[in-house]
Amino acid sequence: MKLLVANGPNLNLTGSREPHLYGSETLAMINSEMKSKFPEINFEFFQTNSEGDLVDKLQSIEKEDFDGAVLNAGALTHYSIAVRDAIAATKKPVVEVHLSQVFAREEFRRKSVISEVCKGTVTGFGKVSYFAAVFALSELLKKS
Ligand code: DQA
Repeated sequence: MKLLVANGPNLNLTGSREPHLYGSETLAMINSEMKSKFPEINFEFFQTNSEGDLVDKLQSIEKEDFDGAVLNAGALTHYSIAVRDAIAATKKPVVEVHLSQVFAREEFRRKSVISEVCKGTVTGFGKVSYFAAVFALSELLKKS
């Protein structure tokens, strides 16, 4: 099983940015824990601060033979119709993830323009949001 784990703007700062919200572990640490928790999965980890690059990566899901994707789109979650359309265009399942509990934060974070086109959403569990999303996605793919 080959999964894409994609992170959008500012997620490269995870570990140092607002640690009370996003935790004190870096994305590299989270990614490496993910690999050890799911040794049977072939992961590709991707992070970009650019909306266009994220759209390009999502467009490559089929071409690069990913079975599905876990996506923390960062702030793009709340307004990017381009990211939403890229998710809608892929036939592979995409799971939306957030480190923080977005529904307990500012009003503008309580709206996601991508949830409707994602298979599911995991939000508020810190790094465990990613692990839970990978688990759910792998179970779903095993059944399909
Ligand atoms: C986030 C939540 C977003 O609102 C925010 O813009 C982020 C991170 C999260 O993981 O909690 O950059 O996606």
